[in-house]
Amino acid sequence: MGLIHVVDHPLVQHKLTLMRKVETGTKDFRILLKEISLLMGYEVTRDLPMESIEIDTPLEHMIARRVSGKKVAIVPILRAGLGMVDGLLQLTPAAKVGHIGLYRDEDTHKPVFYYCKLPFDIEQRMCIVVDPMLATGGSSCDAIDYIKKTGCKNIRLMNLVSVPEGIAAVQTRHPDVDIYTASIDRCLNENAYILPGLGDAGDRIFGTK
Ligand code: PRP
Ligand code: URA
Repeated sequence: MGLIHVVDHPLVQHKLTLMRKVETGTKDFRILLKEISLLMGYEVTRDLPMESIEIDTPLEHMIARRVSGKKVAIVPILRAGLGMVDGLLQLTPAAKVGHIGLYRDEDTHKPVFYYCKLPFDIEQRMCIVVDPMLATGGSSCDAIDYIKKTGCKNIRLMNLVSVPEGIAAVQTRHPDVDIYTASIDRCLNENAYILPGLGDAGDRIFGTK
């Protein structure tokens, strides 16, 4: 069963509270999401494989540590996942970025697929799927399905806000995937929106409502 990592660092929680506020506008919402993504990325990448290399400091020779091999692929679920890419790229500038396009049908709340383009060597990388919201879990589960079709085995999911229903859905369909979240909120409402949540993440990032 995949582990649930709640990133409860005070700076993450403080910024999330600002994002939740109804009066926080698009500009600040975007900046805060980028900052939180960078902070959460620090935890998500904690077990990147390392190797030893020989280097010279100005004073002496030493054996030093560095991240080894092909490193990271970041896969945002469009649209809202795009808001989490830049923060992660600041941490891992050489990461490759794939995109998976899914939107939720307003009536059924089921994800509808419209786009997928992934790095050709994604199966050799740690793949971080990013989406601010884990609600029913349908979008994240489908996105992980597409990534697994490439043979990629090292997949983790990074959400800002989740609910128990979404977590259970991912754990059932993808028991090998760890979830990183800044908050496990109370429940879903009748429209499958997270309560208390932060509203429609895509609309708040892109100012479309
Ligand atoms: C939102 C969110 C997730 C999905 C979560 O996207 O960004 O992708 O809903 O819901 P789920 O866990 O129930 O699948 P939305 O469908 O609103 O599309 P958008 O990002 O294009 O706004
Ligand atoms: N998608 C969102 O953007 N917000 C929610 O609360 C649920 C799904």
